[in-house]
Formats: sequence, C-alpha cells, structure tokens
Amino acid sequence: MILIDKERCVGCGLCAADCITVNLQLVNGKAEVKGGCLECGHCVAICPQNAVSIPEFDMADVSACRMELDADVLLQAIKGRRSIRNYQAKKVEKDKLHLLAEAGRYTATAKNTQGCRFVLVQDELDTFKDMIWQQIGQTVETGILPEGVPPVMLENYQRFLKMREHGADFLFRNAPAVLFVAANTPVDAALAAQNIELMAVAQGLGALYNGFLNYTINLAPELKQWLGLEDKPSYVCMLLGYPAVKYTSTAPRKAADVVWR
Ligand SMILES: Cc1cc2nc3c(=O)[nH]c(=O)nc-3n(C[C@H](O)[C@H](O)[C@H](O)COP(=O)(O)O)c2cc1C
Repeated sequence: MILIDKERCVGCGLCAADCITVNLQLVNGKAEVKGGCLECGHCVAICPQNAVSIPEFDMADVSACRMELDADVLLQAIKGRRSIRNYQAKKVEKDKLHLLAEAGRYTATAKNTQGCRFVLVQDELDTFKDMIWQQIGQTVETGILPEGVPPVMLENYQRFLKMREHGADFLFRNAPAVLFVAANTPVDAALAAQNIELMAVAQGLGALYNGFLNYTINLAPELKQWLGLEDKPSYVCMLLGYPAVKYTSTAPRKAADVVWR
C-alpha cells in the first residue's frame, strides 16, 4: 500500500509520471493513490519531498542515492574477476557476507516479486559437506539419479569420489563458504548472483559458480530441507572465500557478438 503524506506533497507530479502501473494521479494539487500496484518503490525513490512511503517495507532502509560508480573501475572489475578455485584457509567475516546479501537483495526481480532467497553456509559447512558426500556415495551405489540431476552427473560423481580418495574435493574445493540463490525465476537468481559476485570482488573475496553442486542438492529432499529450500528452487550456487591465487592480467575473450543497427 502506497501512502502519501499530504502535508509534504507539493504536487510536483513526478511520482505519477514515473508510475509504471499508472497507480498515482494528481487530485487538487496532491498525489493520490488509485489502487494496488507492484510496489516497485519508484514513487518513493523519485519524491524530492520524502512524501511517499510503503509501510510493508522498512522505510528506515531508504537512503539518499549516492551514485559514484566509475565506468572504467566497473569494467576493470568485470574484466578482472575470475572464477576462484583455490581459497585461503580463512573464514569470511559476517559483515562481508551481510553485504553480499544486500547486493542480492537490491537486485531487480521480474514483476518486483523480490523472491530471492540467499542461503549462506559457513558455520555449518562441514556438516553440509558430510551430508552431500554421503548422498553422492549412496547415489553411486544405487546408480539412480532423481529428477533435476542430469544423467552425466553419475559419471561425474564416480570421478569426484575417486578424486576425493586422493584428497581433492572437486565440489567444495577448499572454500570456507557456499551460497545458494533460490528464486522465482532463473533470471532473478542469475542477476542477483552477478551483483553478489561483484560485491565479493569489491571486498577482496572471490567466487566460483558451481553448477555441479547446485545439481547435487537435488539428490535428496533432506539436503534441500536442511538448506531451507524445500519450497523454492536454487538456480545458482557459488563458492566464496579469500582467493589463494592472484591473476595479474585479464583473460582473453571472444569478440563481442553485437548487432548494431
Ligand atoms: C552457471 C555457471 C556454472 C559454472 N559451474 C562451474 C563448476 O561447476 N565448476 C567449475 O570449476 N567452474 C564452473 N563455472 C565457471 C566457468 O567455467 C568459468 O566462468 C569460465 O571458465 C570462465 O572463467 P572465468 O570465470 O575465470 O572468467 C561455472 C560458471 C557458470 C556461469
């Protein structure tokens, strides 16, 4: 529900002009709400008088915009970020993990559902690893893969188990933390994940998108239950931690496939 503080509203009409659902109009020189909307918050963000609020949200969370992003700095971060497959034996501080969740939370979502769930596993990572490897062992024994896990994973699991016997954990690497992004749509999850990865880089952390591990949580309902993901599919899994590798230059890429008209 959108609320207009009529004392503060000066009738500039900015909120009505920017409202995607045409839910606001000017009546007698003041903004007025017509009905329901998707609560995208544009009316809050555009009002120069702080006259608009949406009580369902924590309005104390709304702050003045500070857009100081430099295009070159951003491009260097995008080019310089690498998939990190080797991590320092150092936990990620809670406040840094919190900022990752913030980067995800503020990402755009289709129809503004804000339906992403971020599952950050660090404190109980050893328990989670044990559960995962136990399920993989059982799966290889039975040879049965549940829905949501592609057939090729059976061979992969056999390979991962062999590697593990030789001390190499191909799934978790030596990352101190793992993140799952569950969402209402795969695109919502992917967009949030990309912002999270950039926020990780900005904090000196590294990440690895881990498609194998994301499939693996479908091996047993208990795994999803333990993660709190029984009602929502996870579309992205990322390992997180402080990189133990340093890349001194960017990696080559194919030429941009762009259509100009
Ligand atoms: C959706 C997705 C899933 C991925 N899954 C894995 C994975 O399971 N294991 C792995 O080592 N790398 C994985 N990667 C990393 C890619 O191999 C990597 O992004 C690519 O080789 C380019 O390297 P860069 O990220 O360092 O630029 C994944 C990447 C994406 C986007």
